[in-house]
Amino acid sequence: MEAVAPRVLEVDEISSLAPNLGDLVYWAPYRGLGFDGDALRTHYLERAIGRALSTSSVAVGAFSENRLVGFQVSDKSSFLANYFGVGCGSITFTALPQGQNEQQTVAESLCKTSISALKSEGVELASASTYTSEKALTWALQGSGFRLVEVFASYAQDIADIEFPRVSNGIMIRDCIEEDLSQIKQLYQGEIFPGRLVSDPNLPRDASYALYGRRFEEVFENKLGRIFVAEREGKLVGALIGIVDGELFDATGIKTNLLSGMGIIIDPANRGLGIATSLISERMRWYQDEGVKSVSFGASIDNVPMIRGLTKLGMEFTSSQCAFHAWL
Ligand SMILES: CC(C)(COP(=O)(O)OP(=O)(O)OC[C@H]1O[C@@H](n2cnc3c(N)ncnc32)[C@H](O)[C@@H]1OP(=O)(O)O)[C@@H](O)C(=O)NCCC(=O)NCCS
Repeated sequence: MEAVAPRVLEVDEISSLAPNLGDLVYWAPYRGLGFDGDALRTHYLERAIGRALSTSSVAVGAFSENRLVGFQVSDKSSFLANYFGVGCGSITFTALPQGQNEQQTVAESLCKTSISALKSEGVELASASTYTSEKALTWALQGSGFRLVEVFASYAQDIADIEFPRVSNGIMIRDCIEEDLSQIKQLYQGEIFPGRLVSDPNLPRDASYALYGRRFEEVFENKLGRIFVAEREGKLVGALIGIVDGELFDATGIKTNLLSGMGIIIDPANRGLGIATSLISERMRWYQDEGVKSVSFGASIDNVPMIRGLTKLGMEFTSSQCAFHAWL
């Protein structure tokens, strides 16, 4: 490949380059789930272009002989920035040319340009994630100062014909009410399970765990989905979020759960009693009622109890992803 020239794109350039993007290679989410590839890929690309056009994003194009050979979008997160008091951004979409060598050259030029653009916009913590099989992008991130913070394993299941076990052992499952939220938040205090933010020694651990509790609050207050809580002997001992991805359904007709922000927490004194699997089973029945055919769920690969629970329910491994952080 001739010399590659990367640069930050202007908004009007992005619209005119958009028709060429479909020729590049990019990885859509829900890998290994057997959804209609074209609808999913088109939606994912359109969403990335929409983000690229927003003022809170940085879009970078790589050109070879005036031809677009790569495209990358990064978002600045005001929520995380406000929460941690640290400028936060993340690389959310990367499209590369065909061929391993070409991909490597282009990915490196995109990542370096994105990083310096994010830095000049006040981003101090940049994050990114790749499928472990995306070697060119993974190596380019590592070459641009990114460090591995989490390996995430995704599991999936076709649920249409499965009869999920009912709750037993004196466990009762019901919908969350407002009074439960403070108890759910308490369950995250003193936690030590693995995750992207909590693995980063430069972020305050307790605040990182507290974000999970905040997510329950956000889902409840904005009615983003359903929160299931488990009670045992009259005490709240666990909680789980369930959300159907409405945006994906409207755009593609694919009905499945949202990919992230689906927290689950069990009271440490009540673990190993099947409470997590009971909550997940109950949520599976709700997904079935909602017309969801395939469900996916992910966890840090080091989260042994979580992964054992998922496989026990019959979920199958579909893909692994790496999450990276770079302090700029
Ligand atoms: C992961 C978690 C939700 C599991 O809850 P739980 O109610 O204890 O899980 P269950 O009782 O349904 O058990 C699920 C499986 O994990 C096993 N398990 C539980 N604790 C374990 C441990 N410390 N090590 C290995 N396996 C364990 C159970 O035995 C069961 O498998 P088995 O029946 O084959 O033995 C709970 O440990 C937790 O709240 N962890 C902190 C929060 C978290 O990790 N959330 C997930 C983020 S994605």
